[in-house]
Amino acid sequence: MDSDSTYNREVVAVIGLGYVGCVTAACLADLGNTVIGVDRDEGKVRAISEGRAPFFEPGLEDLIRRNTTAGRLGATSNLPDALESATIALICVGTPSERNGNLDLQQLLRVAHELGDAVKRRGGKLIVVVRSTVFPGTCEEMIAPVVGGAGQIPIVSNPEFLREGSAVKDFFDPSLIVVGGTDAQSVQRVAALYAPLGIAPNLTSIRTAEMIKYACNAYHALKIAFANEIGALSADCGIDPIEVMDTLCNDHRLNISSAYLRPGFPFGGSCLPKDLRALVYRARHLDLQLPLVESVLPSNHEHLNRAITSVLELAADRIGVFGLAFKENTDDLRESPAVVLLETLIGKGRNVRVYDPHIRLKEIYGSNERFIRSAIPHIGRLLDISLEATLGWAEWLVIAQKPSAECEVKIRASGIRTLDLTGHFSEFIAQARPHVAA
Ligand SMILES: NC(=O)c1ccc[n+]([C@@H]2O[C@H](COP(=O)([O-])OP(=O)(O)OC[C@H]3O[C@@H](n4cnc5c(N)ncnc54)[C@H](O)[C@@H]3O)[C@@H](O)[C@H]2O)c1
Repeated sequence: MDSDSTYNREVVAVIGLGYVGCVTAACLADLGNTVIGVDRDEGKVRAISEGRAPFFEPGLEDLIRRNTTAGRLGATSNLPDALESATIALICVGTPSERNGNLDLQQLLRVAHELGDAVKRRGGKLIVVVRSTVFPGTCEEMIAPVVGGAGQIPIVSNPEFLREGSAVKDFFDPSLIVVGGTDAQSVQRVAALYAPLGIAPNLTSIRTAEMIKYACNAYHALKIAFANEIGALSADCGIDPIEVMDTLCNDHRLNISSAYLRPGFPFGGSCLPKDLRALVYRARHLDLQLPLVESVLPSNHEHLNRAITSVLELAADRIGVFGLAFKENTDDLRESPAVVLLETLIGKGRNVRVYDPHIRLKEIYGSNERFIRSAIPHIGRLLDISLEATLGWAEWLVIAQKPSAECEVKIRASGIRTLDLTGHFSEFIAQARPHVAA
């Protein structure tokens, strides 16, 4: 594909020549690298050595023939041979499911042992890249100790996103490239393998790189299940499912976009909970099981429980809460998760005060005033009239609503210990929940 001499070329050993390894090996060779594929399956090794694809994948056979003929691609069943002059080793072996759903890492651990032994004998630096799908922590906790090498063998995570059936096309026109690791030089070297593709790689921590593969696959599966559930309900209501989902996809601001995809506080308000309940009620009425749609409110509730638990765990006598309405720039308190948070804290006997820039008892009127005075008068009594008052009183500030720029400046300047439940101040999330921090 590319013989531009401006790019660095590497000598790459690709270990495991299944769907991922074989495509990766052939494509990297086509970008001008020297690639030696390794597999314990002699049939696959023979096929590639003879310039054939070991399985059907559009475009793969041509690629293998062209690159074996050019002398850039070879295959062997002997790992030490493949590593002799390799600068990078890409591990692409299978990580199948065990019966309980856990990952079976046997193939991966065996390769890690073999790599450790081979590098010990060979000496020198080798970048080991895990391309197989593995759960976060695997590279650091399981692969690095087995490979060993005392810093001479940096481990990098570079998950694969190709889809069978369009794998070669996906390699050359990737939707996402992720490279994670702690050794910056190695991360750059691995990222540079993809430089000829002209797509900026995402450089992340090693655990984020491992996690992102699961997040992507779960998201893709979620999208399919969502479309099928909405489709089934539409069809049962006599509505064209395709027209519904095609129209939904025409909204690129809120629907097909990054909107609502930042981890933070649970949703609430006068629309989402009510409309989900109505959808679930209607589906049940039609004897239609929609487990995904039905699980959304319980999921939101569980997230609120986690938020409440993290507040209850604070070692503080005086807890200030920023935000009472269900989101910023509104005084709507209907189904606000912050109200539930406050009620729980009060119920547990915590000493608490709250500030919301848009809720001042003297200024609000209508349904909100009635709601505060009749349904939550105990919370109304805890409302501060200024942020300064809450900051001056509290030991910890719990952020339950995205603050305005002005409020953010005041919160930061106060130096108060802060538990951010909104994902707005990402540094505070890591502080307050150390088990979540990278
Ligand atoms: N198939 C996909 O579409 C896809 C896409 C993205 C990521 N992944 C992930 O990539 C990884 C590989 O998937 P795959 O579908 O290519 O697997 P696969 O089962 O098709 O291939 C694995 C290969 O590794 C070889 N192997 C096993 N142990 C070995 C050893 N010790 N030495 C040399 N070779 C060895 C096997 O013989 C086999 O050819 C998995 O973690 C998978 O989850 C797969």
